[in-house]
Amino acid sequence: MRIQDKTVVITGGASGLGLATARYLIEEKGAKVAVFDLNDEAGQRAAAELGDRAMYMRADVSSEESVRQAVDAVVARFGAIHACINCAAILGPSKVLGKDGKATPLAKFAQMAMVNLVGVFNVMGQCAEQMAKNEPEAGEERGVIINISSGAAYEGQIGQCAYAATKAGVIGLNMPAARELGAVGIRVNAIAPGLFLTPMAAALDEKVLDTLKSQVEAPKRLGDTREFAHCCAFILENAYLNGETVRLDAASRLRAR
Ligand SMILES: NC(=O)c1ccc[n+]([C@@H]2O[C@H](COP(=O)([O-])OP(=O)(O)OC[C@H]3O[C@@H](n4cnc5c(N)ncnc54)[C@H](O)[C@@H]3O)[C@@H](O)[C@H]2O)c1
Repeated sequence: MRIQDKTVVITGGASGLGLATARYLIEEKGAKVAVFDLNDEAGQRAAAELGDRAMYMRADVSSEESVRQAVDAVVARFGAIHACINCAAILGPSKVLGKDGKATPLAKFAQMAMVNLVGVFNVMGQCAEQMAKNEPEAGEERGVIINISSGAAYEGQIGQCAYAATKAGVIGLNMPAARELGAVGIRVNAIAPGLFLTPMAAALDEKVLDTLKSQVEAPKRLGDTREFAHCCAFILENAYLNGETVRLDAASRLRAR
């Protein structure tokens, strides 16, 4: 897909990897970007900073109605949706058993599943509905979806039951969605990032963060958010990349703890 003048929805785009990608796609590639987020202050600040090629919509990815309103607003403002990058997610500890040996209550697990997995399915579906109306580019491509997973999907650590399971679910979505939506000219890929210094990562306990940093293979540093944005642009631009999960992690593999 040629990114110039295309409209890209980025969920979680008010912060971290999503915000860096919004900036990169506008400044380096000439895209128009709609940021969907729940953090109004950060979202409005991002839209103001990014200028008239950006808009912010408050949207809870786990709500059909909220996303429908946001999608309608994007189509009203920019006329179409060509790509969607699902970055919105929440992180938090979850074990099978609590310290008291009792089974962990389901509420936290269910909430994470609603945002990190059901939310991805919700936004990709509603964006795909709009993409299917686009004229195909080069006779074959109407849209591109990128869903953000995590290295935790492969080697989840103790305490990451809910997060790792939702991120593995995102990878599981990839192939059936790519196969189905391929018929209408929409590609679906995922990125499983390693550790990037964003507000989500900064919220981790310092000791945990240091341990994670020590497990980065090469280059021996955290990812730069522009490297993530660059990977999104590559996926958008390469029409032959489909149904794939890109591990963007400097060959890191998380150890058990
Ligand atoms: N930062 C990392 O090292 C890292 C590593 C692996 C995977 N990831 C994944 O990359 C993605 C981006 O992570 P980040 O580090 O930029 O996180 P971040 O916390 O900086 O940004 C996440 C954004 O999602 C928004 N959000 C949360 N719940 C939402 C909801 N229900 N509806 C709409 N927006 C909501 C938040 O307000 C926030 O702005 C996430 O999917 C995360 O799981 C990040």
